[in-house]
Amino acid sequence: MASGDLMDKLVSLTKRRGYVFQSSEIYGGTGSVWDYGPLGVELKNNLKALWWSAMVHQRDDIEGLDAAILMHPGVWEASGHVEGFTDPLVECSSCHRRFRADLPEVEGGQCPTCGTRNAFGTPRMFNLMFKTFMGPVEEDAAAIYLRPETAQGIYVNFLNIQGTARQKVPFGIAQIGKAFRNEITPGNFIFRTREFEQAEMQFFVKPGTDDEWFERWKADRMAWHAGLGIKAEKLRFHQHTEEELAHYAKLAFDIEYEFPFGWKEFEGIHNRTDFDLSRHQEHSGKRLEYIDAATNERYVPYVIETSMGVDRTLLVVLTDAYREEVVEGEERVVLSLDPRLAPLKAAVFPLVKKDGLPEIATKLHEGLRKASVPSFYDAAGSIGRRYRRQDEAGTPWCITVDGQTNEDDTVTIRDRDSLEQVRVATDKVVGWLRERMAGR
Ligand code: GAP
Repeated sequence: MASGDLMDKLVSLTKRRGYVFQSSEIYGGTGSVWDYGPLGVELKNNLKALWWSAMVHQRDDIEGLDAAILMHPGVWEASGHVEGFTDPLVECSSCHRRFRADLPEVEGGQCPTCGTRNAFGTPRMFNLMFKTFMGPVEEDAAAIYLRPETAQGIYVNFLNIQGTARQKVPFGIAQIGKAFRNEITPGNFIFRTREFEQAEMQFFVKPGTDDEWFERWKADRMAWHAGLGIKAEKLRFHQHTEEELAHYAKLAFDIEYEFPFGWKEFEGIHNRTDFDLSRHQEHSGKRLEYIDAATNERYVPYVIETSMGVDRTLLVVLTDAYREEVVEGEERVVLSLDPRLAPLKAAVFPLVKKDGLPEIATKLHEGLRKASVPSFYDAAGSIGRRYRRQDEAGTPWCITVDGQTNEDDTVTIRDRDSLEQVRVATDKVVGWLRERMAGR
């Protein structure tokens, strides 16, 4: 399948099944902003919950945080974003479309939109932060930014959390939240957008132990993605070159996935040294040191950051799960999502709309919902079509209530991937699903 085809198919499937819609579609859409529909929001919540569980719930040395999006403007002076969070921008002298100057299709000087040759002048640096005003007066003194990364909310709360949670270095702070970047050339569906979510963790360590912790987090994060069932051959590390390194980083590795449009980053692991805490110390005038109670040593910790784009990881998960195949002479499209990620865990069908089967199926479906097993009831169309709809939605198990149910109180459960069917007693269905939902 051509790469463009796969992206088109994913965009259309995710719209058709209620995963992702273009923002403000009825007004013609907002540039590179997307809304998550009923299945999309479940998938996203499941992904975030797995990350939170691995980072916060399963460890003693990481605390959670939910810092505000709006921060004191001094934060972004200190962090270097006001000065340095820029991309080179060029404008076509003919059609006035704007592009990132470092795009390969622009570097030759020809406008990719209208074809004008020698279309661009000298690039100017464009700051990617969204600027707005706090309060009723639109003046420079009231200017404020939408955060371009969640990390800074963690740094400014470093001492609050270390003190209240009584943590000792090494320890981490994790946060999931929205970030905003006024990207010059967003695109590739939910890959590069202007509003997105990050799941970031800053791990504070004693200087000198940073290299070792970097390696641990690098391995840990790759293993976590592989544990979601992402194909190993589609994952790799990319080390940042000197030119690629962000202004705060001493060492950085991206975790990349082979998307239909090439190998691209979806998570970064960065050694940010003491850059951020030191800068906040300078700019705020507040000491941001850690005092080791055992040795009385004082130091500004180094930070190892793991920064995952939630939306990009979602695109990884969807791309990796998408499959087309022919089964018994019929084509089907399947989203082979890990059951822990799948928005719906089960769909319940009465085989026919008679003999009391819809009533039994409805009762089973309601029982699943009460047991917090997201389930979908469907009695419309042939059984084959109902299976296909759920295959596309990524539902791991379809439960059919049929004639035999009236005789022995069992139902069939069909596995989305292997297509195997087993008979399970109706009152054992919740337990059967729960066992398998925990991971294959
Ligand atoms: N705090 C470090 C930081 O923000 P980054 O490499 O700029 O580092 C981290 O971003 C992750 O955030 C990326 O790997 C990507 O998954 C996600 N991300 C960044 N910009 C994005 C955008 N415009 N749209 C969607 N995701 C984005």
